[in-house]
Amino acid sequence: MCGIVGYTGSRQAYPVILKGLKRLEYRGYDSSGVALLKDGELNVYKKKGKVAELEESMIGKNIDAQIGIGHTRWATHGEPSDRNAHPHSSASGKLAMIHNGIIENYALIKQDLVNKGYSFKSDTDTEVLLNFIEDIQQNNNSTLEEAVRIALKRVTGAYCILLIEQDNPDTIIAARKGSPLVIGIGKGEHFLASDASPIIEYTKEVVYVNDYELAIVKPDELILKNLGNEKITPYITKLDMELAAIEKGGYDHFMIKEIFEQPSTIFDCLRGRLDAKEGVIRMSGVDKHIDQLINANRIMILACGTSWHAGLIAEYIIEELCRIPVEVEYASEFRYRNPIVNKGDVIIAISQSGETADTLVALEKAKENGAFIFGVVNAVGSSIARISNAGAYTHAGPEIGVASTKAFTGQLAVLMMVALNIAKHKGTVSDERYKSLLLELEEVPEKVTAILKNAEDIKIIAEKYKNASDFLFLGRGYNFPVALEGALKLKEISYIHAEGYPAAEMKHGPIALVDENLPVVFIATKDVYHEKIVSNMQEIKARKGKIISIVTEGDMISPGLSNDYFAIPPADELIAPILTVIPLQLLSYYVGIAKGIDVDKPRNLAKSVTVE
Ligand code: F6R
Repeated sequence: MCGIVGYTGSRQAYPVILKGLKRLEYRGYDSSGVALLKDGELNVYKKKGKVAELEESMIGKNIDAQIGIGHTRWATHGEPSDRNAHPHSSASGKLAMIHNGIIENYALIKQDLVNKGYSFKSDTDTEVLLNFIEDIQQNNNSTLEEAVRIALKRVTGAYCILLIEQDNPDTIIAARKGSPLVIGIGKGEHFLASDASPIIEYTKEVVYVNDYELAIVKPDELILKNLGNEKITPYITKLDMELAAIEKGGYDHFMIKEIFEQPSTIFDCLRGRLDAKEGVIRMSGVDKHIDQLINANRIMILACGTSWHAGLIAEYIIEELCRIPVEVEYASEFRYRNPIVNKGDVIIAISQSGETADTLVALEKAKENGAFIFGVVNAVGSSIARISNAGAYTHAGPEIGVASTKAFTGQLAVLMMVALNIAKHKGTVSDERYKSLLLELEEVPEKVTAILKNAEDIKIIAEKYKNASDFLFLGRGYNFPVALEGALKLKEISYIHAEGYPAAEMKHGPIALVDENLPVVFIATKDVYHEKIVSNMQEIKARKGKIISIVTEGDMISPGLSNDYFAIPPADELIAPILTVIPLQLLSYYVGIAKGIDVDKPRNLAKSVTVE
């Protein structure tokens, strides 16, 4: 959460920073700001609201500078406002700082500073850390770099910070723990950002800064040190990302672009791995560690949100195909309880961003207990990818819309391949079933294309139900987690209250909610549960609920029970969730649009949840 950008070099810093902030706005959009330094003059400009509002407020301001830092905020400490916006200025006005993360012991530090006579202009933990750094600098008569190092040894929590100093005309000091930082290396210039998207058009050479590292960044020099002041050789990697991947490409929103990209993102995910004709799946992360995986006593899946829903589907698939017990847990719960993790347990971590704080900390904890971590991650080079012992990328490309869509289907495709691979080696799946699932998986991109061709039908359904105040989503078996995902998507994009349930649970309480005003979305594709879910539809119909169903083409029964339905191509029940989720993504998108919501930046949310 929160996006940070920094630049030092010979270009004008402001346009580079502004463009970068627009790219990082998915990380938070409560307020934004920049600090620009030129000839000993340090100017800080900030504004509540989206980056466009900052841009407008900058008209006529002095923006001439070759060094600067910028921030787009997702509020934690202190409401969204001009005064809580970053950058913050130190008490003397000589330092400016931006921060992504949370300083957990800020209250104690603040109290000490207040006792010393400091007063604060904002409610943020960031301003506390900044004045703490300045206090150390002044008392010890030390350089900014030294003061930052001393301060960071005394704070707990997560941070990525960038600082500039009035008396230091070309240097940015940066440090991270728990929040991401990438440094782009140009010719006589450096770019700093939360992810590579603000950097990609200037250079493809980047350094991913690790936890507890501090960077001293000048136009011609990048020095990395640990908090013990020892130099570290920067490890330069080449970005494998094109500019087009982070632009809207003619679509109105990133979300719809990303929904429509799914035939190709799923294809990219399968490409080079799945060979249905030969009957093989090649995944180096699995192949190299196959003994560990097939001998797992237990698999635990840790994730949050949409990724957690992918984990629930994987639980059903892995237990079915591999006969290994699977537990799926919210990373945020796992990290604070006293879970039993033994050597021989395999943890599968699922994350689009690879930076979700709860997942990351949960993994650190599991790793300490000797678990083997297999990461299913989208963002290449991210923290979760790096902490994993092995893994498989989802290859969905940058996902910018706040609601996760293409990353989810990529996760399902990867998890299916992992399960099939383990099952094949373990001998827990018949040759016939294995081959038919491989063939089915190979056909998924084509089937997704067919579903997307009928997107307009979902738009009509969305128009009809856009004013509902509540929705229920019901499914059984593999489609139960899809119901949860459909409800989550609708909540976040349309602000309509929605709940997902296993259809059979209705009778145990939620059916009391049903009346003629309640739209109930059934995921009722043809599978072993079909007759049962048809009975559940009857129960809703008898109580006058409005039924919207996702059915299999050729189904003669479910459409007759539905007020509205959408048909998808037939698929094996293990594969079906990759298809059934697509109309639900479209439904939430079109309802959100019909309600005039900024679907790429819905209120209160941020794409990458790097705070707990
Ligand atoms: C919902 C959504 C979130 C994320 C969750 C985990 O559309 O995007 O629920 O799935 O914050 O994020 P990652 O997958 O980046 O760990």
